[in-house]
Amino acid sequence: MKQVKIFDTTLRDGEQSPGCSMNLREKLEVAQCLERLKVDVIEAGFAIASPGDFESVQAISRAVRDCSVASLARATQKDIDTAWEAVKDAADPRIHLFLATSPLHMEYKLKMTPDQVLERIAEMTAYARRYTSNIEFSAEDATRGDLEFLAEVTRLAIRNGATTVNLPDTVGYTTPAEMQALIAYILEHVEEAHDVDLSVHCHNDLGMAAANSLAGVLGGATQIECTINGLGERAGNTSLEEVVMAIRTRPDIYQAQTRIETTQIYRSSKTVYDIIGQTAPLNKPIVGKNAFLHESGIHQHGVLANKKTYEILTPESVGIRTNNLILGKHSGKHAFESHLQELGYELTEEELLRCFNEFKILCDKKKVITDADLEALVSHNVRTVETEDGYRLDWFAVHTSNFTTATSTISLKKGEERFEEVCLGDGPIDASFNAIDKIIQPVEHSFEIFSINSISEGKDTLGDVTVKLSAGGRHFSGHGLSTDIIQASIVAYIEAANKLQAYHNKHQKEE
Ligand code: KIV
Ligand code: ZN
Repeated sequence: MKQVKIFDTTLRDGEQSPGCSMNLREKLEVAQCLERLKVDVIEAGFAIASPGDFESVQAISRAVRDCSVASLARATQKDIDTAWEAVKDAADPRIHLFLATSPLHMEYKLKMTPDQVLERIAEMTAYARRYTSNIEFSAEDATRGDLEFLAEVTRLAIRNGATTVNLPDTVGYTTPAEMQALIAYILEHVEEAHDVDLSVHCHNDLGMAAANSLAGVLGGATQIECTINGLGERAGNTSLEEVVMAIRTRPDIYQAQTRIETTQIYRSSKTVYDIIGQTAPLNKPIVGKNAFLHESGIHQHGVLANKKTYEILTPESVGIRTNNLILGKHSGKHAFESHLQELGYELTEEELLRCFNEFKILCDKKKVITDADLEALVSHNVRTVETEDGYRLDWFAVHTSNFTTATSTISLKKGEERFEEVCLGDGPIDASFNAIDKIIQPVEHSFEIFSINSISEGKDTLGDVTVKLSAGGRHFSGHGLSTDIIQASIVAYIEAANKLQAYHNKHQKEE
């Protein structure tokens, strides 16, 4: 079995896609998920892109111990210096430099001749080598490049110090057969390529990113670049969960393995979706709600007789628990804590106490508490700490009917101060949001997302609300969780408005 490295770029290629920007705390939370997943490399960002990017790459480099941490850099000294400065405290820092190599990109984007490109690759790889021996070079738009030229690019990059050479399908143009042949060609024509990792990085424009990446492995690639949930520009990148589970499910075909802790997949996917304010499409492979459901009679009959008839991988293998051991209102803190540990959560004493108190409140409202409820409760309560210095809900009262205009009275607290407003609206949620606007007076914004999802089955299910606001090209999300969807909506809106205001106030001060 050959070992395939998983290089995750959720925090760089994924985060740079519209609507997926994350703040520092959210990026650290994703980095923690990636470390638990045991990815080999976390691409933490593009350090030179902005001071915020630099700060997050540095913070992730300092926090993560069990994975290599990389920063992207263009092939210039300044980019490489900045990337190194950001990653140098990592346990295993990597500089990832790139330069375009297709005729189209060289002529129109770089305005450089192929010889100039080769010279720059040699020079900048050698420059990065002064800092570290863990260097990746990416030949951007490789799949639309010339094979002989790519062989020369690879040779030069390796001779000057690259230990990984990545051949990206930047615009999602290639096919599985072509990708397999490309990697095989490089291995056949570049002797040095056998001593380094050859990597694939595929985009999903034609829906073939996972297939192309896996074909790269068949051709001899030893690293796949991917993102959680396939996040990424346009149609996204290769999705981590798909390639990892394909390799695990078909060792007979790929003759390969990864070091990924697959039972962490579902939780990581959920965390990333929660942070960016989205939910998995129902039919998303591996992590969608329907991925393991068998609705048709024939399938159900088969699965009852033998699960393998229609199930090629188990929900448990990706961390979806189906037994739903139930805790009840008489469960003590120890039972609660040890059950959370079984689910993979290690909480601080303060987080544990907060979650336990919420759990007890939930027990009074809901007859059956499932693992899904617990996971939602924990991730909600651990994530909402940030808003504590903003406004928080004190109480609310709504009046609504199908023959009067809805009214909402909202009382919010900030520190010890209390603020109250009453507003009308087109339904109780609109009325409540109007009252919150009157109190917080957030800067002008638009609503990107307002979604309500149920966590489990039954009419007493928890409602999981996501609100995402956008202002000045930035996004601010909030989450609310309650058996009362009006309350969950109010809490989610307050959290998003607090973040929006905090960002606005901070930047006003800096100006
Ligand atoms: O898609 C691409 O080519 C990239 C490179 C910078 C690796 O993201
Ligand atoms: Zn990319």
